[in-house]
Amino acid sequence: MTKIKRIGIMTGGGDCPGSNAVIRAVAKRAMFEHEWEVFGIEDGYEGMIKGRFRKLAASDVSGILTLGGTILGTSNTSDPYAYIVKRGKGTVSRDVSAQVIRNVRAKGLDALVLIGGDGTLHTAAHLSEAGLRIVGVPKTIDNDLGGTDLTFGFDTAVSVATEAVDRLHTTAQSHHRIMIVEVMGRRAGWIALYAGVAGGGDIILIPEIPYTLEAIAAKIHFRRMCGKKFSIVVIAEGAKPKGGEVVVKKRVETSADPIRLGGVGFVLGDQLERLTGQEARCVVLGHLQRGGSPTAADRILATQLGAEAVRLIANGEFGRMIAVRGGGISSVPLDVPAMGPRLVPLDHPLIVAARSVGTSFGDE
Ligand code: F6P
Repeated sequence: MTKIKRIGIMTGGGDCPGSNAVIRAVAKRAMFEHEWEVFGIEDGYEGMIKGRFRKLAASDVSGILTLGGTILGTSNTSDPYAYIVKRGKGTVSRDVSAQVIRNVRAKGLDALVLIGGDGTLHTAAHLSEAGLRIVGVPKTIDNDLGGTDLTFGFDTAVSVATEAVDRLHTTAQSHHRIMIVEVMGRRAGWIALYAGVAGGGDIILIPEIPYTLEAIAAKIHFRRMCGKKFSIVVIAEGAKPKGGEVVVKKRVETSADPIRLGGVGFVLGDQLERLTGQEARCVVLGHLQRGGSPTAADRILATQLGAEAVRLIANGEFGRMIAVRGGGISSVPLDVPAMGPRLVPLDHPLIVAARSVGTSFGDE
């Protein structure tokens, strides 16, 4: 087994509250327990492609536990296996993975901790097969990564969304309106489900349960009959009507995953106004859910994941992703997240509980 002397750490994909807490945990354990040198890789795979590595001192990772974003920067448009470069007036896609491997070896990085979502970890799995020693740390506010029961950032996103639902509740009540809160969640409705339940949303719409306008209008009508003149709808950006499609806001052609969702709440608001005759307003929370300081739960989880990543490297266990499974911290093969998203099961206990207290999921 090669003796580890120097490691690299990178954050890739969309940023996520708690990323700095992971960086801090990795760097501190590596420096203090093993006396390894730690290099930060700037702006995700972009920095690996361009060789932008900077040595981290203990002071660089001190005081960042509570900080949102990532001190290393990130990118979700630089895929080493399909790197977009300018050619003439257009662009072409190139495989620059060999350059990444060369840069890592030239810098003498014996192992890498790559913190990212499905895209980053999918690429990491390929680089691992190509010979780099990699440990992955799962990261997404959407909480939909396969192989792990929980991702850091999710708890913070749920807290932000819940506070928004709480605030919109009072204004909805004053104006007797339908208030729609659109939250992130392209493929899975974890944020909508948790924030919807925590904020007492009357209707929760998630990608896993296609809705009908009639079912939503019926719930609003029923509430009015019961003297409740307002209704709160919490909708995931990836929710769609039965037999319908998601609402696409734009395409980012330079991204490996070019579709950006957004706006389904506005579409639904117009439809509900027409159908119910009641005024509707929509708020899209967007990147607010990804910003700011992580919650206590996320700081704790991020610290555990980062510390565990270093333990795996010290043990020579590469090609693995740290995971939360059955309440404990363990690891799974690095290619597991690429096998598909972790969706909300239709019989999830929280769905069952929410239905039992009268919450509608727009399906019945
Ligand atoms: O994967 C996390 C996520 O927050 C999605 O819910 C959202 O659709 C996407 O990232 C937006 O990414 P960006 O705007 O940074 O490209």
